[in-house]
Amino acid sequence: MTATKQILASVAVFSLCFIGCTRPSDEQKMNHFIDSVMSEMTLTEKLGQMNLPVTGNIVTGQAQSSDIAQQIREGRVGGLFNLKGAQAIREVQRIAVEESRMGIPLLFGMDVIHGYETVFPIPLAIAATFDTEAAECMARVSAKEASADGICWTFSPMADVCSDARWGRISEGFGEDPYLSSMMAAAMVRGYQTDNLADSTSIMSCIKHFALYGAVEGGLEYNNAEMSRYRMYNDYFPPYRAAVEAGAMSAMASFNTVEGVPATCNHWLLTDLLREDWGFNGMVVSDYTAVQELIKHGVAADKREAARLSLEAGLDMDMVSEGFFLLEDDKTMLPLVNKACRRILEAKYRLGLFDNPYKYCNPDRVAKEVFTGQNRDEARRIARESFVLLKNENELLPLKKNATIALIGPLADTRPNMSGTWAVAATPWRYKTLKEGLTEAVQGKGKVLYAKGCNLTYDAQLEANATMFGREMRDSRSAEEMRREALSIARKADVIVAAMGESSEYSGECACRTNLDMPDSQHDLLVALKKTGKPIVLLNFSGRPVVLNWESENLPAILQVWFGGSETGDAVADVLFGDYSPSGKLPAAFPRSVGQLPMTYRHYNTGRPLPNGQDTFSKFLSSYIDSPTTPLYPFGYGLSYTTFEYSHFTVSSSPAVVTLTVTNTGSIDADEVVQMYIRDIVSMPARPVKELRGWQRIHLKAGESKKVKFSIDEETLGFYNADGEWQKPEGEFEIMVGGNSCNVESLKFNVE
Ligand code: NOJ
Repeated sequence: MTATKQILASVAVFSLCFIGCTRPSDEQKMNHFIDSVMSEMTLTEKLGQMNLPVTGNIVTGQAQSSDIAQQIREGRVGGLFNLKGAQAIREVQRIAVEESRMGIPLLFGMDVIHGYETVFPIPLAIAATFDTEAAECMARVSAKEASADGICWTFSPMADVCSDARWGRISEGFGEDPYLSSMMAAAMVRGYQTDNLADSTSIMSCIKHFALYGAVEGGLEYNNAEMSRYRMYNDYFPPYRAAVEAGAMSAMASFNTVEGVPATCNHWLLTDLLREDWGFNGMVVSDYTAVQELIKHGVAADKREAARLSLEAGLDMDMVSEGFFLLEDDKTMLPLVNKACRRILEAKYRLGLFDNPYKYCNPDRVAKEVFTGQNRDEARRIARESFVLLKNENELLPLKKNATIALIGPLADTRPNMSGTWAVAATPWRYKTLKEGLTEAVQGKGKVLYAKGCNLTYDAQLEANATMFGREMRDSRSAEEMRREALSIARKADVIVAAMGESSEYSGECACRTNLDMPDSQHDLLVALKKTGKPIVLLNFSGRPVVLNWESENLPAILQVWFGGSETGDAVADVLFGDYSPSGKLPAAFPRSVGQLPMTYRHYNTGRPLPNGQDTFSKFLSSYIDSPTTPLYPFGYGLSYTTFEYSHFTVSSSPAVVTLTVTNTGSIDADEVVQMYIRDIVSMPARPVKELRGWQRIHLKAGESKKVKFSIDEETLGFYNADGEWQKPEGEFEIMVGGNSCNVESLKFNVE
């Protein structure tokens, strides 16, 4: 019998001792249990709990001889990550529980970022739905599927606000707005954890990357992120905090520095702010090898010092560096080791792993609960909600199903690229390509002709960089031959549907770009296709906002489809043929050029703003000599197959309520995302010219009107000062409503 099993038995006795007087609370029981376990643990075993090593090559049936098995037996491992499969996980868990001295179960983590085998749209696209129920639903389905297959911990949500589309990881977050990001991050935590973490379909969520990772300088991966505390508190911290308040039980420190101190060893971030100010009581894990990277950052002389600095800052678990073992001979570290080890054991206890270490390894569940029809229906529904209609001249969309369509482009028939970046558990061979989805949709009515038309880019090396992890798609034919084929089918068609843009790995971790234009070969193909005179619908695939100047000037219709997940083929067909009217809105602006980045609608006014409505250069006013300052498509923007009219806008003071009426003035039933922005007109420090502080997604039948109401309270209008103290609102505010951040009506309002 392992030590933990004996202790479990004694805890049952501990509970019995309370019979007749007040029963111990769950917290007391947990503390008693963990005290007992820790009193039996050696220092090495405690440090082992704090170790999250590389999983290594573990195949079902071979766990015993895997490279990691011996370390687990010696109690030197607290958890593993990105190992897939209930059977393999059960085998490894058995080694921990049956063959290590203490028998403490392992945590099994995974980057379940936007779905498991049922893959949902990338998080940036989820944000485009402006639908928190969709975000919660995607996290719930992900948790159900992942937990059925052995996983109890996901490294999600990524709550990093980002207003710089050069950064490849903008795809993994919720865009440029802290309020939208907060709502989405909290919804995802709820979906993963529910209100009962011990339920066997709940998994522990991990807020990442704490903090400011979305503000890396130059949009360059792993770079520094430096800014004033005033900006941190108001523009970047809110989503992390919202996730803490939603109950996230773990957090991941980011790779970047904050005030010169890498987040991994930043005491102010990990302890003062996260734990003491925000009351976070979960565990903090480093990012991959981030502890040893403190040496390269230039803040630690060696790995031992790196480990000490991290532990002192408040880090509990070391992902991959295996640095904490180097502190084994330093007795002064013991109190901190005890704290860190306790937090990890608490997570395991709360997940119910001590009661049943195999609770997530039930092979019956895999067959019944993973990639089910119901889960896929949810993914399809949410994917179509996420698409953003950027342009639709002369109502080219929706297309008729009896049309002859020339489907052209490198994204039209590629299975592995539909799921998008960070789909670790994806099974792409089971997903439809776009070509298959559209062909099925028009069956018996119209025709889909297909040609790839071009490679992703002329540059073979760039294409290799953007199609890693089995997503290669390069065609060996010459550019001329591919183009000829495309033009020949285009001439036979009524309409061209161009499936173009980025591949999955063109965005995501370490996929930063300095040029956000349509890749060269695809641009040239679009120019050639335009010369055929056939109308062109661009389906733009991308994991980030991109620059679409030429496209928006020259093409009649553009639908931004991001990466829609496993059900992309069907979801695009739903929208293209009008079974669903597009309703997504941009969670980050599409700039006119990379030169405008970083950019956000939440900017400050400067002392020399351009006059309202002017967007051309003006000497000595805040403007560019060679470009407008506004984006091509602003935050919150997105068209529909119908039109909406906003009317009867009022703001009352007591109670403080905003009301308006929205009418569907077209002939198609559709959803609209009604947005409310505020501006604090006179304030010290100054506030941005506009801030999203509420929205509602409403469904309106053709011709229908609905009254929309927003309540305004202190939280709607206040902000933080540079010391992180909440500032109550006072004085005059502007309240704005509209269908995007640019096109709004506004009224003044006084806080009484
Ligand atoms: C590095 C990434 O930054 C992080 O987001 C991810 O969770 C870990 N690797 C684990 O895969």
